[in-house]
Formats: sequence, structure tokens, C-alpha cells
Amino acid sequence: MPPGRRSALQDLVTGGDERIAWAERQMPVLRAISERFAAERPLAGLRIAACLHITAETANLVRALRAGGAELALCAANPLSTQEDVAAALGATLGVEVYAIRGEDRAAYARNLETLVAGAPGVLVDDGAELIVTAHAAGAAQGVLGATEETTTGLVRLRAMAAEGELRCPVLAANEMLTERLFNDRYGTGQSALDGILRATNLLFAGRSVVVIGYGAAGRGIAARAKGAGAVVTVCEVDPVRALEARMEGYAVLDSLTAAARGEVFIAVTGAPNVLRREHFERMADGAVLANAGHFDVEISLDDLLALAVAPPRAVLPLVDEYELAGGRRLHLVAKGRVVNLAAAAGHPAAVMDMSFSAQALAVAYLVRSAGTLTAGVHAAPHSLDEEVARLKLASLGVQIDTLSEEQTRYLHSFR
Ligand code: ADE
Repeated sequence: MPPGRRSALQDLVTGGDERIAWAERQMPVLRAISERFAAERPLAGLRIAACLHITAETANLVRALRAGGAELALCAANPLSTQEDVAAALGATLGVEVYAIRGEDRAAYARNLETLVAGAPGVLVDDGAELIVTAHAAGAAQGVLGATEETTTGLVRLRAMAAEGELRCPVLAANEMLTERLFNDRYGTGQSALDGILRATNLLFAGRSVVVIGYGAAGRGIAARAKGAGAVVTVCEVDPVRALEARMEGYAVLDSLTAAARGEVFIAVTGAPNVLRREHFERMADGAVLANAGHFDVEISLDDLLALAVAPPRAVLPLVDEYELAGGRRLHLVAKGRVVNLAAAAGHPAAVMDMSFSAQALAVAYLVRSAGTLTAGVHAAPHSLDEEVARLKLASLGVQIDTLSEEQTRYLHSFR
């Protein structure tokens, strides 16, 4: 290379470094924890395997864990969510082992999980439970101190394993920590799922009929943000209490087949497979847009779409495939049905990942502190970790709160 010319790789690394630094500015809690970790080294000598979305926010978590003394290997929680500049910067600038290439096929994705497990990690940090499941398949789960799991979907799977007596290590339910649960899904997925759909399609949401299927924490966030953007929002939900809550919140609540005929944009966020399938596609209007905001790409039946299509799908925009059905109706699938906030946008904003990943970092340190005392199974993380994250976040926002007086505390704890 002629002197003075930079390689494409150097440019990629520089771009990644900038993106990581940009995210870091929005992550004051993780910065504070990182500083404490650097002083106390609670993770000294620990090898961590992490299966996470390879984003600028994840890079900041990696830095915090390394500040605590850990060594890390990383693979991607989704083949389409890897930010290549960040992956390059993690390797080149931070010297982290990264096994992830954006767009890798399923075989490469599975190999990367196996490589991480083969490195004999002491702690697993997971997003979707694939790493924990791979460690079990390789007979390596007994050897780990424990694991943390970031998603609702992953915890469903791990609890099913525990119920069958198959879970062989302690798992902390990071997804259920309040500083994750209350903010990540609602505000993080809520904003970034719409961001992904808008980036991919540039649709106007105002006045549009948007159907949100699933009214869990993420569905609530998506519905609220779509309403805020002026959409006419319908919610579909199988849980009667949640469905009632959606109705009281002012949404139309319909069964999904009725909604299929009325909607223009459909966002599935249930965790369940085949939520949108043949019978829905048959009722949808020409031009309907389909997106999945759930962790796995199982919610929109690609098999049914392909079976109904009269021609192979056509990429009409970089992240939109058009399926033409008999009679000329066209359905538009965003990001191949993969988790839209990461596949078509940059994932949850750093300010919300600040809390989720701070909670994760504290959960890893807790696993190390509790080595040998936690049984195999899914455990709640102690509330004190949530309080630490919330206090630091409030301080970073310049928010002061009151404390109870002694008299108030006594009153609140007495039964007379
Ligand atoms: N999951 C959702 N958004 C994310 C992000 N920005 N980084 C890592 N994991 C995520």
C-alpha cells in the first residue's frame, strides 16, 4: 500500500472506535462501574464467553468487564445484528477475541458458539440462551460458575430446561432485573423497532393502521411509540389481563385474523412461532408491511409466505423483500423477518443499554462473589444490584430523591 494511504480495515476500525466512544458518552452508569471495577478488580482471572449483539453498547460492556480483570471471547447473538466496524475495533483496538461476521450462515454461527464453549469459560453472558444450550450440549455446563441471560425468550427456554432437570448451572435472570425489565424492552425495543421499520421503508406512521401482536413489555413500548407517531394502533394479545390493559390504554384490541384484514403495518413481538401465517397473509391488503421485533425469526412464517408467493421474493429496497401473491397483492417483509430493531437499525439506544449492561456487569460480579453457593437453576439477581444501577443513573441525570425519615421507616415497618 502506498505510504499515507489507509487500508479499508483501518477505516473500519477507526469508524468502530468512534461509534464505541459515541455510545460511551450515553453510558455514564457503565463508566462509573468500569472505574470501580478497575480499582477493585472483582473479575481478575475470570474467562467470560459472551453471546451478544455485537454493537457499540456491547463493546462498552466488554470494556467494563475487562476493567474488572476478565478476559473475554465474543460471538454474535444474531447473524444480522453485528456492526462490522465495532467487531473490527473490538479485535484491533481492544484485543478481544470476536467470532462474528455480519450475515454469517447458520453453520458458522453454530461453530462460533462451539468455539466459545471450547475456551472453557468461567461465566457465560447470553442473549437468547444459545450459548448456555451449546455449553450443555458439549457437557461443559457443570464447569461454569454461572451464566446471565438477557432476553425473555432465553429465560423461557432455560426455565423449560430447569423444569426437566436439564439445567446444570446457576443462571441469573438479568432480563428480569428491574433496571433492565422496566426500561430495555419498553423504551429500547419500543423506539428501536420503529426506527428499524422507518429506516427500512421510510413510511409515514401518522394516520397509518399499525397492528402490534403481543402486549408484553416490548409490545407496550412499540404500541405507545406508534401511537405517539400518529398511527391508529391495534393490539392483538392472547393473555386476557394484558388484552384488557391494552384496551384500557385506548388501543383497539382484536383477534389477529380480524386485524389481518385491517392493518397496514404488522409488528410481531410475542416470542411464539408462526404468529403471522398463511391465514393472515390471505386476508392482508396489498402493500402490507411485516416486521418481527421478537428475538428469533420464527414469528412470521417464511414457509407460508414462500408457499403463497407466485414468484421468488424480490428485494424492492435493501431491507425489504416483496412477496407477490395470487391476484397481484404484494406483501413486504422487513429484514427477512429477523429482529427488526437490530437487523434494520442500531438496536436499543445506548442510554437504555447503559442500565441493562450495568446490571449485567454487576450480575457477573455477583456470580463470582457467590461462586459455589448458587444451585443449578434460574435465579433472580439481588435487588441491591438494581438499586445501585438506578442510583447511578439518577445521579448522572442530576436527579435527587428523598429518603425516608427514621419515623417514616418505623411506621412503614410496624403492624400496629
Ligand atoms: N439488544 C438490543 N439492543 C442492543 C444493543 N444496542 N446492543 C446490544 N444488545 C442489544
